[in-house]
Amino acid sequence: MTAPFPHSEIAVAAKAAPLIDPFQRAITYLRVSVTDRCDFRCVYCMSEHMAFLPKAEVLSLEELDRLCSAFVAKGVRKLRLTGGEPLVRRGIMTLVQSLSRHLKSGALDELTLTTNGSQLTKYAGELKACGVERINVSLDTLDADKFRAITRWGELSKVMAGIDAAQAAGLKVKINAVALKGVNEDELGDMVAWAHGRGMDLTLIEVMPLGEVDAARVDQYLPLSMVRARLAERFTLDEIDYRTGGPARYARVKETGGKLGFITPMTHNFCESCNRVRITCTGTLFMCLGQEDAADLRSPLRTSESDEPLHAAIDRAIARKPKGHDFVIDRRNHRPAVGRHMSVTGG
Ligand SMILES: C[S@@+](CC[C@H](N)C(=O)[O-])C[C@H]1O[C@@H](n2cnc3c(N)ncnc32)[C@H](O)[C@@H]1O
Ligand code: SF4
Repeated sequence: MTAPFPHSEIAVAAKAAPLIDPFQRAITYLRVSVTDRCDFRCVYCMSEHMAFLPKAEVLSLEELDRLCSAFVAKGVRKLRLTGGEPLVRRGIMTLVQSLSRHLKSGALDELTLTTNGSQLTKYAGELKACGVERINVSLDTLDADKFRAITRWGELSKVMAGIDAAQAAGLKVKINAVALKGVNEDELGDMVAWAHGRGMDLTLIEVMPLGEVDAARVDQYLPLSMVRARLAERFTLDEIDYRTGGPARYARVKETGGKLGFITPMTHNFCESCNRVRITCTGTLFMCLGQEDAADLRSPLRTSESDEPLHAAIDRAIARKPKGHDFVIDRRNHRPAVGRHMSVTGG
């Protein structure tokens, strides 16, 4: 097969030395928001009338490929495509196909994505064929009316069909659910039983104060310590040592055999083991999800055909990776801790 992008003929070294930040953390995981657009408008993620980035500012698929490949050359071993909704980006499978060369060469251990599942009936087979083994699907409820209320524009049946298609294609699916006060809190036990019954792990997420949405964060925020206590009345939760370098802590549910993850940025500081950085679809690198400091990688990408300036800009940025974040849901000001939405940085 011919390479989809001219530069993508270039192979990268199979085992590059990892990027090391000032706190001796190896940066081996890159999350890439390939678009800030989405076919849903989840109430905790976006406002109903979101202003999206002008197309000219957004990197082309070819530029995204070059940028990701620069990180792979610098020792990144895991790439996650996210957004916005990654599968609504036109031509997205060209990028997935192209990046899959790094799996074949052994330079990358994993290529994966986080999706709302709405397009999976269309793409599950192709994803699997490109070497994607596992995906995360975000789903906060099993009730069609609640699903519509949370996502504003989404249809539960389409996402369910997408999950069916993904499993039929042989993709391992993990479900991510945001715990929302008064919305899905009574349902989370049933979601554990449902997900584990289908062989899918489930991770619960606390609402993070990212970007202005129409609702007040304090009204949405449900501490997972409370959720966990309630789940422990129904299930036996055995603490396990499973770690991904990320913010989740895992328990094994004795009755189902499945894994249950808890992402608690608000109640638990998970930064010491952080191995990741994020890039937006405009080529801005965020060294921490919860801080404003960022580095522009689009200029070095666009102004030079050589990857050298890009590599140098990545090195300078990683040298500034902060120790951690300090999210607070501010009860008095109702202002987000970080101005940008999750759909910009990629969840
Ligand atoms: C921004 S979405 C992007 C990928 C895809 N559209 C999806 O929904 O899976 C990634 C994840 O971030 C979560 N998310 C979005 N805004 C959030 C917030 N303010 N706090 C916590 N999680 C959030 C979503 O629930 C989703 O699981
Ligand atoms: S959480 Fe995902 S699906 Fe929902 S609005 Fe944000 S980007 Fe879209």
